[in-house]
Order: sequence, then structure tokens, then C-alpha cells
Amino acid sequence: MVGLMPLVIGRPRARVWVFLGAALLLSACGTNGQTQLGTPVSKAVLQRGEALYNAQCLSCHGGATGGGLKDIPPPHNANGHTWHHPDQQITDIVLNGFSFSLDEPKMPAFKDKLTEEEVEAILAYIKTWWTPEQRQWQATVTAQTRERSLSGPDKGQGQN
Ligand code: HEC
Repeated sequence: MVGLMPLVIGRPRARVWVFLGAALLLSACGTNGQTQLGTPVSKAVLQRGEALYNAQCLSCHGGATGGGLKDIPPPHNANGHTWHHPDQQITDIVLNGFSFSLDEPKMPAFKDKLTEEEVEAILAYIKTWWTPEQRQWQATVTAQTRERSLSGPDKGQGQN
């Protein structure tokens, strides 16, 4: 939640209305799928995402319903916390794997099995499980993360 606050408070009012408008749009679109605010996703991409999800992710993460916040592996539906993370972070976790602690089961890396485009399709499919509010919040955090990476202090510095 912290990430959203500066945007709502610190930016011009018009921005807030853009996001409110987008929220209405998202709720109107229902499960047609949106990766970003205002970017519709084709049915073909969603079907591809669904097939890939069922083959690669379902066995560990479960499907559209069930599960809870404390489950490991976590559900990717509206009961989980995947929607708390921007697209960039989710994509990184899927491609490169992730482990919160050594005692927990690990999220395997998929970079040898899936392309970035395929991960995008999977993510578009997962997003159809979220509520309009979750989709809106996550799209905002994703946009903020993109802005930060474009204008951040590290840009072009090439350290390491
Ligand atoms: C072998 C089981 C397994 C498979 C298969 C698997 N995961 Fe995971 N995944 C995990 C575990 C376990 C964690 C939690 C790691 C932790 O918290 O330390 C996790 C965590 C994640 C997270 C971070 C938590 C979150 O909800 O944001 C994402 C995103 C994720 N997985 C996506 C995927 C996707 C997409 C696929 C299919 C391409 C997939 N996983 C396949 C076991 C799996």
C-alpha cells in the first residue's frame, strides 16, 4: 500500500481521475484481461497463458479460487499476494526463481522453459482472477516501477 500513497497525494489531481476512470474501465471489462491500464489483451494471449499456467504452475500454486495469504506456495488468485507486486518483479521471480528463506520450498526458475512473452501471457491470465480493485492497484504499482526505472538515479551509471 505504501507505494500508492505518494502518487495519490503528491501528483496533480488529474492523475487521480485517470486512475479512477481506469478502475471503472477495468471493472467494466471484467475478465477480458488487462496487462496494463488501458491495454487490452487478446483472447489468444489469455488462452496461451491459461495453457501454460495449467502445464507449469497449477500443480504448485492452485487455480482461480481457494488458498490464503499464508500458503506456501501462495495462490495467485485474489486470495494471494501476487497482485501486491509489480509486473517487473513477478516476471523476474518466474524467470529467475525465488526463495524467501532456506526453510521454505523454493520457487523454481523458468528461464530455460519460458520466454518473457510466455510469462507475460501467464500473468495476463492470472490477472483475470483478481478483483478490479486489485488489478487497478497492481497496474498503478507497475506503472510507478516503470517510471522509477526510467528516471531513477541509477540510470546509465553502469556500476558493477
Ligand atoms: C514446484 C512448485 C512450483 C512451481 C511449479 C511454480 N512455483 Fe511459483 N512458487 C513456488 C514456491 C514454493 C513459492 C514461494 C517461495 C517463497 O516464498 O520462498 C513460489 C512463489 C512464486 C511467486 C512469488 C509469490 C507471489 O505470489 O508473488 C510467483 C510470482 C510465482 N511463484 C509464480 C509462478 C508461476 C507463474 C509459475 C508457473 C510458470 C510457478 N510459480 C510455478 C513453487 C512453485
